[in-house]
Amino acid sequence: QLLHHTAVARRSPATPEGRAVLIHAIAHIEFNAINLALDAIWRFAGMPETFYRDWLRVAAEEAKHFRLLRDHLRRQLHHDYGDFPAHQGLWSMCEKTADDIVARMALVPRTLEARGLDATPLIQHKLRQVGTPDALAAVAILDTILREEVGHVAIGNHWYGWLCTRAGLDAVAHYAALVQRYEAPRPKPPLNEAARRAAGFSEAEMRWLQHG
Ligand SMILES: [Fe+2]
Ligand SMILES: [Fe+2]
Repeated sequence: QLLHHTAVARRSPATPEGRAVLIHAIAHIEFNAINLALDAIWRFAGMPETFYRDWLRVAAEEAKHFRLLRDHLRRQLHHDYGDFPAHQGLWSMCEKTADDIVARMALVPRTLEARGLDATPLIQHKLRQVGTPDALAAVAILDTILREEVGHVAIGNHWYGWLCTRAGLDAVAHYAALVQRYEAPRPKPPLNEAARRAAGFSEAEMRWLQHG
């Protein structure tokens, strides 16, 4: 069942049911991310071959992330994908940016996926505090996901920069315009500065993201 993101219940990870809801929500994001990467490949023609190879690699990694989380959900939490409602925030941004590859690169990988870089350490911290074997196993899965997500955001940053250069756009100023035009969400502090730097955000962009 798909709901508006404000209608999806938040649960404490202190209970097994709460952890199942949490892992399910992340699995849903990964599932959408598979389709998002593949959508970039078939929708946007005329890019260099490396663009398609990059997004194919992302799709394969997203499929791995989804599988890791689904297996965890089934084996350790006795639930499955589809047991809880989910929201469509990621996919609606995919639809909104279907006609604009610059906006897609700006707002899906380097905005929504980059928010995952910020959120993951906080989720891991909560799960470590819970400390049960399933919670600690989830922390390890999230380590793998976080490491590979840095690569996805880097790919988004690379192609966003490439497209801006080709179109003669100022990457930082154009990003601010796109955020407004498409009503993209702002990052939630604290930013994962190390991961964002590793993914290629410049100091100017980090300042803009933090202070507007
Ligand atoms: Fe992922
Ligand atoms: Fe990703």
